[in-house]
Amino acid sequence: MTSNSVVIFDTTLRDGEQSPGASMTRDEKLRIAKMLERLQVDVIEAGFAMASQGDFESVKAVATTIKNSTVCSLSRALDGDIDRAAEALKPAESGRIHTFIATSPIHMKYKLQMEPDKVIEQAVHAVKRARNQCADVEFSCEDAGRSELEFLCRIIEKAINAGARTINIPDTVGYALPHEFGETINQLLTRIPNSDKAIFSVHCHNDLGLAVANSLSAVVNGARQVECTINGLGERAGNASLEELVMGLRTRNDSLQLDTRIATEHIVPASRMVSSITGFPVQPNKAIVGANAFAHESGIHQDGVLKHRETYEIMKAEDVGWNTNKMVLGKLSGRNAFKTRMEELGISFETKEDLNETFKRFKSLADKKRDIYDADLHSLVADSLEMDETFKLDALSISSEMGGTPEARVVLSVNNERNEIISTGDGAVDAAFKAIEAIACSCAQLELYSVNAITSGTDSQGEVTVRLARKGRIVNGSGADTDVIIASAKAYVHALNLLEAGEKRNPQTGSI
Ligand code: KIV
Ligand code: ZN
Repeated sequence: MTSNSVVIFDTTLRDGEQSPGASMTRDEKLRIAKMLERLQVDVIEAGFAMASQGDFESVKAVATTIKNSTVCSLSRALDGDIDRAAEALKPAESGRIHTFIATSPIHMKYKLQMEPDKVIEQAVHAVKRARNQCADVEFSCEDAGRSELEFLCRIIEKAINAGARTINIPDTVGYALPHEFGETINQLLTRIPNSDKAIFSVHCHNDLGLAVANSLSAVVNGARQVECTINGLGERAGNASLEELVMGLRTRNDSLQLDTRIATEHIVPASRMVSSITGFPVQPNKAIVGANAFAHESGIHQDGVLKHRETYEIMKAEDVGWNTNKMVLGKLSGRNAFKTRMEELGISFETKEDLNETFKRFKSLADKKRDIYDADLHSLVADSLEMDETFKLDALSISSEMGGTPEARVVLSVNNERNEIISTGDGAVDAAFKAIEAIACSCAQLELYSVNAITSGTDSQGEVTVRLARKGRIVNGSGADTDVIIASAKAYVHALNLLEAGEKRNPQTGSI
């Protein structure tokens, strides 16, 4: 890695998963990990092995499968965590243990209830223990953004001596300002006598909308790893977004003279995949990956772009993968073309049955919708990766007329037992949800309902996200269909199944 290369450390599968409702199954994590490998992400943080058996299995599965990126597990600075991370990473071609402890006065006093010297002692012990099991160790000073510089210098010098190769400076609560945060990195690199023995990294949260700006300010001041997530997913307001950081570095290489090894043409497919798996839609005006990121509305702009693209565009849409979102398949496409395109999108099938089942869904979609786009293909897989289904939507019909009260007839199987009910509601979606609830009796709270058109055109599939909460657990169900009411019902049922399959979810990572 040369000094003008910035290491991209993606934490979509760990910090990203800490977004409320964004928890993912092992198979979903594997699909995203394969996409991240395709993107040529340097380090994939696959999870927090100690958090649960499910997280352990996910880290292990990613470590077994991924060959061209380093696979990392988070661990607190505790023996049990470190050993568990090492165990999960055993199959990795290149593995990293990422251990952390809080260093800010407020965290040490109230959360850890430890004296600063004890914190240093525990950090050094943790790094040494990790190094005994893994050559590549990263040490993070949690809440570094609010930690004292002197204390950071002391603990980091010792962590490097204990064997940490990467030192991460998280702005855990998204409090920093770009000029301040850049100066902190500069001071650390200047004052710590052995700072040249480690790569300095940053991990910025977006509470003030400054995560990317703070990260860029840090690299300008010498940081050479940035931690980020696809679509900026992450705890609370999220993390620095991978696509914005990477394109910021690439587009402004003239000024920054820094770059990454990211294969940017996979950015949009990766964004779509993460959005469809987590049920977090991408806002249309989101930089790089939003539907409007390269759309020109005003006549003056359109005229300018037609005359000379660079008048209003600083990046090429195709460089970030927008052109791969073109129509590729239709009703007459065969199984081979389907499988090939899916593989190009980073989606592979473990068994012939999985392929056949998804191909069947593709054919039935192609019967309803003439043009099948990549985004449609992603939603097909999301549909087919249903976990054990307690609830199954067998039929739905709606009768609705202007000025009348909509009525929904729903047939829903619960553990293979067929139930049928008719409900009315304030609108067709409300009627459908009420009918499903009347059968499921889930006692879940509907926290969010959102509809997004997957592609442009009136034949677009509607992609619906339904967020349900029950007993402190939050899940995002998603459903796609050319009929928005059916998509909504599918999303509701998906969310109910996610609630039921609670043991596959990971309640503990949210508490880091
Ligand atoms: O935000 C944070 O401080 C973290 C650490 C565990 C790296 O996510
Ligand atoms: Zn974080």
